Amino acid sequence: MKVLIATEKPFAKVAIEGIKQELDGVDYEVVLLENYTEKQQLLDAVADVDAMIVRSDIVDEEVIQAGKNLKIVVRAGAGYDNIDLEAATRAGVCVMNTPGQNANAVAELVFGMLIYGVRSFFNGGSGTELKGKKLGIHAYGNIGKNVARIAKGFGMSLLAYDTYSRSEVINNDGIDPTISVKTLYKHSDIVSIHVPLTDKTRGLVGKILLSQMKPNAVLINTARKEIVNEQDLLDFMIENPKFKYLTDVKPDMHEQFMEKVPNQYFATAKKMGASTSEANVNAGIAAAHQIADYLKNGNDRYRVNEK
Ligand code: 3PG
Repeated sequence: MKVLIATEKPFAKVAIEGIKQELDGVDYEVVLLENYTEKQQLLDAVADVDAMIVRSDIVDEEVIQAGKNLKIVVRAGAGYDNIDLEAATRAGVCVMNTPGQNANAVAELVFGMLIYGVRSFFNGGSGTELKGKKLGIHAYGNIGKNVARIAKGFGMSLLAYDTYSRSEVINNDGIDPTISVKTLYKHSDIVSIHVPLTDKTRGLVGKILLSQMKPNAVLINTARKEIVNEQDLLDFMIENPKFKYLTDVKPDMHEQFMEKVPNQYFATAKKMGASTSEANVNAGIAAAHQIADYLKNGNDRYRVNEK
């Protein structure tokens, strides 16, 4: 069996070693395609493999069709909006993710970016502290939970909203579950977005939610750029010059944000929430393990597409 690791944004070396070790043990051959720049390279590489591990790499119908022997694709990470699930189902390919494996890395970055943001982007000016501030966690999944754990250490007070009925879980963690997403945005000094990208969440953070927010609040997005309506956000930031937006996912309108609200805005050069050795090792080895367990035993516990 051949397993392709296709990562336009490569894993740390130590993770590749771990994945190889995991798959060597079950006699699988590992093929590596890193830092590729053309889709054709992915189409060529997937042609004769049985399984594929990806990160945010685009796995559309063409890629799936090109994988003549492809049986499983594992997204080493949480969000699988980069994979055409329906095309995979049609081709009989199983798609999985590795939930939770990179959650701590993303949660830690939230605080790295937050401190940078509330301390005036380290420009020498005065800033504010996190202690005593209300942090609104928008979606209480694996990342949201890790954000809450760390926030408690900073002495922040916590609110969380999750569309699924998790208010008991939220409550049990000592966090206030808000009754609506609007309430979360209204009462928070800082809102951290952790919703997955779906048809329902695309553009979710737009005029309606933004208008609830305090004029000097901070919005931090380590999820997906598409969750935020960029024009609405830019308009809101121009109207509210103390409002800040920090994002690990460069918006399409990056240049306009840089030009119009440079002192209220920060975006990482490339999505880096999950780019730690630890997260790569955890997610990469979990992906390798899930592939072997699926191909050998048919275990599809983390399957995310229909059969
Ligand atoms: C995820 O969905 O797991 C994160 O956004 C990380 O994505 P990445 O593997 O492309 O860094």
